[in-house]
Amino acid sequence: MKNPNSKRVDKIPPYLFAGIDNAIAEKKSKGVDVISLGIGDPDLPTPANIINALSDAAKKPENHRYPSYAGMPSFRKAAAEWYKRRFGVSMNPEDEVLALIGSKEGIAHTPLAFVNPGETVLYTNPGYPVYRISTILAGGNPVPLPLLEENDFKPDFSRVKNPKEAKLLFFGYPNNPTAATVDKDFFREVVDFALDNNVIVCHDNAYSEVTFDGYKSPSFFEVKNAKEVGIEFHSLSKTYNMTGWRIGFALGNADLIRSLGKIKENVDSGVFQAIQHAGIEAFKTPKTVLEKNLKILKGRRDLMVDGLNTLGFDVKKPKATFYLWFRIPKKFKSSVEFSKHVLNKAGVVLTPGVGFGEYGEGYVRCALTQSKERLEEALERLKKL
Ligand code: MLT
Repeated sequence: MKNPNSKRVDKIPPYLFAGIDNAIAEKKSKGVDVISLGIGDPDLPTPANIINALSDAAKKPENHRYPSYAGMPSFRKAAAEWYKRRFGVSMNPEDEVLALIGSKEGIAHTPLAFVNPGETVLYTNPGYPVYRISTILAGGNPVPLPLLEENDFKPDFSRVKNPKEAKLLFFGYPNNPTAATVDKDFFREVVDFALDNNVIVCHDNAYSEVTFDGYKSPSFFEVKNAKEVGIEFHSLSKTYNMTGWRIGFALGNADLIRSLGKIKENVDSGVFQAIQHAGIEAFKTPKTVLEKNLKILKGRRDLMVDGLNTLGFDVKKPKATFYLWFRIPKKFKSSVEFSKHVLNKAGVVLTPGVGFGEYGEGYVRCALTQSKERLEEALERLKKL
């Protein structure tokens, strides 16, 4: 058969973590006991109240039919109420909140809603790969905004060439993969940039609740006029250990929410209602349960940061996310070479920084999604290297 692919498919690489899954499967087939610190997929269980809510809702026939496209009014209301409690900002559940099949789905459909072929999309680099790939799939022109260590992994808007040509901006803090955090002043800068240049802002806030040491992560909408320019993506995946459940939501500017909803109602049929009921319950999860999870993650962070620093790496303790982002040893030419070395010799998976974009070269990301015992084992193996 001649190449069946569309040009757009040929333009995109395999998804970063699908490629890593293949490398892991190959090692496992050879009997290697692989410790994956690759994908950010929490190993801790979904809280029991959420599982029970799913179980009850799954038994009710009314939940087996097509859900409403935008999400059940009760789910959108619960999301808006959680958001108001958490960030102190009101969103109208009727037209400012949209249920998503995970925030990845919403992000992936966003350029289809707003970007015409050839239009520029600014995206932070290193960054969540979906920002760039979804732009390419929509025929847009992805332009990286470098996140450099000397700038605390924040973009420098004064260096954007032709800002007026930008149609949309993708970014997210707490940041994946660098684990950098910001305060409201930074969001103020983003709103000013967006208003000056007529740019649609898409803020990815998937890690807002994974924070440590008293740091409280802000929402983009805590800043005046933010609702005029953007939307924010939230996910239940990382907060409630629900990656496999596929549920999140977007909120913000009603016109933008409506356009994204229009794309979605034509390509998917919404989130399984039983999962939306479980989502409503998730927002009620006792604080103590979430704090217990965070304590475990903090313990892992401290263990790994101290352990890696003892081995000669230079790793900072992040105030948010369950990622560590650090430079590879000087003797390796690239992050892929270093990651391959660590996988082949120690059976430990670290994600090469370049997988998140060219400005991630020279770094690796370590996800703290394994038990303390497995992390200790990973450190032991790295020590032997
Ligand atoms: C990550 O590990 O960066 C993401 O959680 C992966 C994903 O959402 O596909």
